Amino acid sequence: MRVTMLSNRLKRWTLRFGAAAVALAGTAGLAMAQEPIKIGLLLPYSGPFADLAVQMDGGVQVYMKQFGDTIGGRKVEILKRDTTGIAPDTAKRLAQELIVRDKVDLLAGVVFTPNALAIAPLTVEAKKPFVIMNAATSIVTTKSPYIVRVSFTLPQVVSPLGTWAAKNGFKKVYSLVSDYGPGHDSEIFFKKSFTAAGGEIVGEVRVPPKNPEFTPYIQRIKDAKPDAVFVFLPAGEQTVSFYKGVTERGLVKDGIKILASGDLTEDGQIEATGDIALGTITSGHYSYAHKSPENEAFVKAFEAAFPKGPRPNFFAVGAYDGMGAIYGAIKAQNGQTDPDKMVEFMKNYKVMSPRGPLEIDPETRDAVNTIYIRKVEKHGGKLLNIEFDSVAKVKDPGK
Ligand code: PHB
Repeated sequence: MRVTMLSNRLKRWTLRFGAAAVALAGTAGLAMAQEPIKIGLLLPYSGPFADLAVQMDGGVQVYMKQFGDTIGGRKVEILKRDTTGIAPDTAKRLAQELIVRDKVDLLAGVVFTPNALAIAPLTVEAKKPFVIMNAATSIVTTKSPYIVRVSFTLPQVVSPLGTWAAKNGFKKVYSLVSDYGPGHDSEIFFKKSFTAAGGEIVGEVRVPPKNPEFTPYIQRIKDAKPDAVFVFLPAGEQTVSFYKGVTERGLVKDGIKILASGDLTEDGQIEATGDIALGTITSGHYSYAHKSPENEAFVKAFEAAFPKGPRPNFFAVGAYDGMGAIYGAIKAQNGQTDPDKMVEFMKNYKVMSPRGPLEIDPETRDAVNTIYIRKVEKHGGKLLNIEFDSVAKVKDPGK
């Protein structure tokens, strides 16, 4: 009798807890099998462009704070690597290590075109998606079918500015650009749309991409007496030294206006540039001052994460949107990271970004953006890029 009672109890116990134990063991087994999702993030964490890495890394962090650090039950691991600046050999070596040794599922980041071009062939060989969060020379996306660019291209940004300038009283413009990919693209495409609308380029100069000394170029521009100078310089400290040269040589005082891609007055550096930037007209895909609920929420989240600054700029937004595309692509596969399926998803990605509407052109895997014409103005003691005109759905005209 006692024995039967005991055995019945045992049966009930086994039924109740045994099933749970089996289920638990199953979950544990599954969790053990779940490798983390590894994203290799290549940015200039040190050197003269480190501020841009702060922005992009910040964009990644803010996204992960908002949307979590797991996808489909798998932990997202960011493997950060320091490219140190325009350094294609370093970028290539780091990408190779990330692919071969660390076995990343995909690569992301890169500020600079030469770094993106050096990494591109590796992504073809290894079939690794490569999400470009900045590098903005048109040709980049043609170098690998695994590249998807969520940022912008210089031809896309400066073409509307050339048209706007010619239609708004600028007749003679002198062009000053950095002597590498994005600078060449800017020079060619600004000139194309500006001259097509009736403008004339009265002089062109290409300055070294590393540590240019601006004063002699600015003097030459001043002597040519154009209505304006058109500028592309990579964002960061060069833009501040350019404006120092402008102040020294009295370029703005002489009535020569500054037209530029948004890199020259990007929001992270603009306060360091100072009031000399007031009145500069730029074209760009993102302004900190962009008025939309999405941007308001983004700026709030970024400033809460980094209360001591910097102010988020288009680099932060590029990284934030890149994470959106990556999360979407992996979620759509319930946590799996098949490279071709990821690219297929990202090719058709569409989102209301803090910048405004962003979509990827499936033909080119490149960002389609609204391009805004903006003017630097001071509001509430802050230097801001105030949008006053726009062209919707601009594709990269370089393709
Ligand atoms: C680039 O190298 O593609 C690049 C770098 C900095 C910019 C824009 C483009 O501000």
